[in-house]
Amino acid sequence: MEPRTSVIEKRLKDINRIIAVASGKGGVGKSLVASSLALHLAQKSYRVGLLDLDLYGPSSHIILGVKDEFPIEEKGIIPPKIHGISFMSIVYFTGEKPSPFRGVDISNIILELLAITQWGSLDFLIIDMPPGIGNETLDVIRYMKTSEFLVVTTPSKVAMGAVGKLLMILLELKKPVLGVIENMTMTDSSFIKKEVHRLQARYLGKIHFDEHLEESIGKPDRLLKTLAMKDLSRILQKIKL
Ligand SMILES: Nc1ncnc2c1ncn2[C@@H]1O[C@H](COP(=O)(O)OP(=O)(O)O)[C@@H](O)[C@H]1O
Ligand SMILES: [Mg+2]
Repeated sequence: MEPRTSVIEKRLKDINRIIAVASGKGGVGKSLVASSLALHLAQKSYRVGLLDLDLYGPSSHIILGVKDEFPIEEKGIIPPKIHGISFMSIVYFTGEKPSPFRGVDISNIILELLAITQWGSLDFLIIDMPPGIGNETLDVIRYMKTSEFLVVTTPSKVAMGAVGKLLMILLELKKPVLGVIENMTMTDSSFIKKEVHRLQARYLGKIHFDEHLEESIGKPDRLLKTLAMKDLSRILQKIKL
């Protein structure tokens, strides 16, 4: 057995719920939903962690406006607190340089991150997942056995095609799927809702395209007041978050 697995289990044992924000696609709003969900829960006084596992395009630190806060090394590493959220990202290891990892390396980096991070006791750990259904998704399923999935798509048929594949895999592996969020909507089309239902998943609702969102990136206080956040809060209420 991989020796780090038992260390990982120990590291995660005091975390009540692990929610992975995933999609078959990139650019659909996973990082925005993951960061906003973490902020929303922290505001409700829950103990929250956010782990950015997108090794190709980490972005949670940009959305949260992380500046000079770094992890502390002490028998592993302790994530810094950003706006009340314990925050850990691959960016702490790669800096802003592009990181051309290959398959095996990715698995190793994820294992290492999970093995060294000391989250302590948390109500929620939110994971900002990379796009697709590659090694990272399988690693989360394998090493974070209790993880639940919150799936994000856009109204696009192309995005929904990829999301459909992810949903089928999660269904086959019997992983809990909290539901599918349709992000950046501009019409009242019901195409995605029908597709999600056809795939036996729960459709959670729309987050409208918010033309002012970009101005709030890096400023959590403003982010919490955006229309996109309002839509997300309504969705989260449905799943009691
Ligand atoms: N509802 C929305 N309205 C407007 N812009 C959005 C919305 N959701 C996400 N975005 C923007 O779209 C881009 C991609 O979002 P991001 O969360 O980085 O996607 P992913 O993590 O899936 O690659 C970002 O610039 C983000 O600010
Ligand atoms: Mg992202």
